[in-house]
Amino acid sequence: MRWYRASGRHELPWRLTRDPYAILVSEVMLQQTPVERVLPYYVAWLERWPTNASLAQAPTAEVIRAWGGLGYNRRAVGLQRASAAIELAGGAFPREVNALLSLPGVGPYTASAIASFAFERRAAVADTNIARVLARVVLGAAAQRGVSAFLVTATAECLLPVRNVRDHNLALMDLGALVCTARRPACGACPVRSVCAWRAAGYPAATVPARPSPRFDGTARFARGRIIDALRRLETLSTEEFLELLPEEHHARLGAYLASLEREGMLVQTANGRWRLPGTTAG
Ligand code: ADE
Repeated sequence: MRWYRASGRHELPWRLTRDPYAILVSEVMLQQTPVERVLPYYVAWLERWPTNASLAQAPTAEVIRAWGGLGYNRRAVGLQRASAAIELAGGAFPREVNALLSLPGVGPYTASAIASFAFERRAAVADTNIARVLARVVLGAAAQRGVSAFLVTATAECLLPVRNVRDHNLALMDLGALVCTARRPACGACPVRSVCAWRAAGYPAATVPARPSPRFDGTARFARGRIIDALRRLETLSTEEFLELLPEEHHARLGAYLASLEREGMLVQTANGRWRLPGTTAG
């Protein structure tokens, strides 16, 4: 905690608020996107939709367009559905982990993060940074890979203090982001080096090798992102026009991509068979 007070990232805008809606927005954006990329989107988002009610009422097409280059566009639709579900239930933001978990698009990490960061609930959070810190310091492993997720969660819960849970969670997060980094941990500058199990064990290598990432333009994520990007710029496209935007290897799967995007509420088919972003409120 002493290290965190001196060296933590206290100025991150989502840490300067206790508004649960703003914190929900930030946590969904930060799920798979780095802090630096999220910052301008977070600020613009809250200017455009400053309240949960305003986001719930927005046209989904605009929500998807505003998500822009953050990637994993499903998160935008999930976020709006969570806002709509809260408004439908009367507009009071859930404060407990279990109630937060029942919101669409909100998983264990996000529910605990909101409970802890907005409402100071005694909830353990284990994002990738915290999981790596706990895997090393407590469990003696080089990385979270190869360690059971259950063990990491249980460890996070064991370490929860009685008071100052919010700062405790943020301190572990910043330790992972700034010192106990994945590639080049700065062990010399680490405030918990004297109790680190990984250090005591002589810094053993990871037991499971890192998985090589697949060629990005061959993934469904790439193709689905292209489809939504085209609809951000053009009101409607036909199935044939999507074919022209996608490398050959995706053509046989285009129907499946469109069907899954439609099922997830990311696009709709017009009366004449063309595709567009949804106009109505999600949820
Ligand atoms: N502060 C609160 N939540 C955060 C997150 N997910 N990433 C970085 N900083 C945060």
